[in-house]
Amino acid sequence: MATAFDVIVIGAGPGGYIAAIRAAQLGFKTACIDEWATPDGKPAPGGTCTNVGCIPSKALLQSSENFDHAGHAFADHGITVKGLAMDVAQMQKRKNVVVKQNNDGILFLFKKNKVEFFHGRGSFAKQGADGWEVTVAGKAEATLTGKHVIVATGSNPRALPGAPFDEKLILSNSGALAILEVPKKLGVIGAGVIGLEMGSVWRRLGAEVTVLEALPAFLGAVDEQVAKEAAKVFAKQGLNIQLGVKIAKVEAKKDVTVEYADAAGKSQKAVFDRLIVSIGRVPNTLGLNAEAVGLKLDERGFVTVDADCRTNLPNVWAVGDVVRGPMLAHKAEEEGVAVAERIAGQKPHIDFNTVPWVIYTSPEIAWVGQTEQQLKTAGVEFRSGSFPFMANGRARALGDTTGFVKIIADAKTDRILGVHMIGPMVSELISEAVVAMEFGASAEDIALICHAHPSLSEATKEAALAVHKRTLNF
Ligand code: FAD
Ligand code: NAI
Repeated sequence: MATAFDVIVIGAGPGGYIAAIRAAQLGFKTACIDEWATPDGKPAPGGTCTNVGCIPSKALLQSSENFDHAGHAFADHGITVKGLAMDVAQMQKRKNVVVKQNNDGILFLFKKNKVEFFHGRGSFAKQGADGWEVTVAGKAEATLTGKHVIVATGSNPRALPGAPFDEKLILSNSGALAILEVPKKLGVIGAGVIGLEMGSVWRRLGAEVTVLEALPAFLGAVDEQVAKEAAKVFAKQGLNIQLGVKIAKVEAKKDVTVEYADAAGKSQKAVFDRLIVSIGRVPNTLGLNAEAVGLKLDERGFVTVDADCRTNLPNVWAVGDVVRGPMLAHKAEEEGVAVAERIAGQKPHIDFNTVPWVIYTSPEIAWVGQTEQQLKTAGVEFRSGSFPFMANGRARALGDTTGFVKIIADAKTDRILGVHMIGPMVSELISEAVVAMEFGASAEDIALICHAHPSLSEATKEAALAVHKRTLNF
C-alpha cells in the first residue's frame, strides 16, 4: 500500500528541502526524497549546494584566503609567520566536516518539522485517484502518493564535447573541490563563477592557473566598470585569464593537453596537471520518468514552468536549477517557499530583479538589479554614483581598499535601479541594496540613513550621495 502525503518533494537541495520544510510548517503531510549519498552510503541532503557547491567552495575559499593572508598580509601588521605551510589534506578534512554539519542540520530540521525523509531515487509512476504515485528506489524502497509533487532535482555540470569528466585529470566542480595536493599547473575552462572561485582557491595555494574563456569580454553579465576592475586585480593575483579562445581538443593521459585557438586565431597548446571544466550547468531530470507521465521539458532540458512554477501537469510544480532563471541557491529557496505557500492558497511574489549575485573571489563581487549596459540598451535615463573603498576608513584599517560601490538610480525619480560592488565583504553589503530595492527606495533614501562609523557600509551611503554629486569623504 502506498503511503499518502499532501506534498511530495523530489530533491533535497536548497529548493527542495526548503519547500518541504515550508509545506510542513503550513500543516501539510510532507515527504522529501533525495538520493545523494556519502561515500559510505549515508544520506547527504542539501543537494549540489551543500555537497559540491556553495558550502564546500566557501570553506576552501576561506582556508586559502587565510593562507594567503598569513603569507602576504600579516607582515604589514607586524606579525611574523615562520615555516608557513599548507596541509591540503587537513583543509579538505575541515571542508568535509563543514559539509557534514550542513547535511546533519537538514536531517535535524526534517525531524523537527515532521518532514518524512526517504533516501533514494524518486520517479513518477502514474496519476491515480489519490494524486501522483511516486516510487522510491534505493535504500528506502517505497511507493508514495502525493496530492502535490514538487520537482527540485537540480542540475549537473556540463562536460566539454569529447572530454568527459574523469574527476582525476578532467574535473567538474566535484573533483575541483576534492583535489588533495596543489597542482603545479592548473587549467580552467570557463571564466564564469566556478572558474574564478576555484581558480582563486588553487592560485592562492601556489598553483599556476590559466583560465581559458570562449567569450571575448570578461564577466559579460557584470557591470563593465566592475568587470574591468576585477580583470585588473585577478591579473595582479597571477590568474592568467585568456579571453576569446576556441577549444579544439582536450586529451587526458598522464596530464591534460588542451589545444585551442587564441583570440587572434593562432593555434596554442597547453599542458596541465589538472583541468577544471566549468562551462555552465545543465538541468537534471534523470530518473524522474518525466517522459512517461508527460512532464514537459523545454529544448534545453529544463522543466517548463509558468511564472508561478506550475508545470504542464496538474498539481506538479518545479523549482530551482531544474527550471529557468539563475542557478542560485537563494533563488531555488525563494521558489520552494513560494510554491509551498501557493499550494496553501497564498499569493506569494518573487521579484527576480532583486535576486542578488555574489562571486566569492577576493575582492568579492556582488550586484543586484540592472547594469548600466542593460539600462542603456533599454533606453532608460539614469544617474550613477561610485565610491572607492580606498576612501573608506574601515577598509583602510582592514588593509583591503580594493574596489568600489556603485549605485545607479533613475534620472527622474531617483529610484535605485541597480547596485554593483567589488571589494571586501561586499557579499554582506549587497543586502542593504536588496532591501532598498525591495522597498522601492531612492538613492537619496540611502544617503539619508545613518550608517555606523567606521564600517564598509559607509561606502554604500557615500555612493548614494555620489549619485547627487555630494560625497563627503572623497
Ligand atoms: P540541487 O542543489 O542540485 O539539489 C537537487 C537534489 O535533488 C540533489 O540532492 C540530487 O541528488 C537530488 N535528486 C535529483 N534527482 C533526483 C531523483 N530523481 N530522486 C531523488 N533525488 C534526486 N549558488 C549560490 O547561490 N551561491 C553560491 O555560493 C554557489 N556556489 C556554488 C558553487 C559551485 C561549485 C556550484 C556547482 C554551484 C554553486 N551554486 C551557488 C549554485 C547552487 O548550488 C545551486 O543553484 C543550487 O544547489 C540549486 O538548488 P536545487 O535545489 O535546485 O538543486
Ligand atoms: P557560468 O555560466 O558562470 O560560466 C561559464 C563560463 O564558461 C562562461 O563565461 C562561458 O562563456 C564559458 N564557456 C562556455 N563554453 C565554453 C567553452 N567551450 N570554452 C571556453 N569557455 C566556455 O558557469 P559555471 O561557472 O560553470 O557555474 C555554473 C553556475 O553555478 C553559475 O552560473 C551559477 O549560477 C552557479 N554558481 C554560483 C556561484 C555563486 O553564486 N557564487 C558560485 C559557483 C557557481
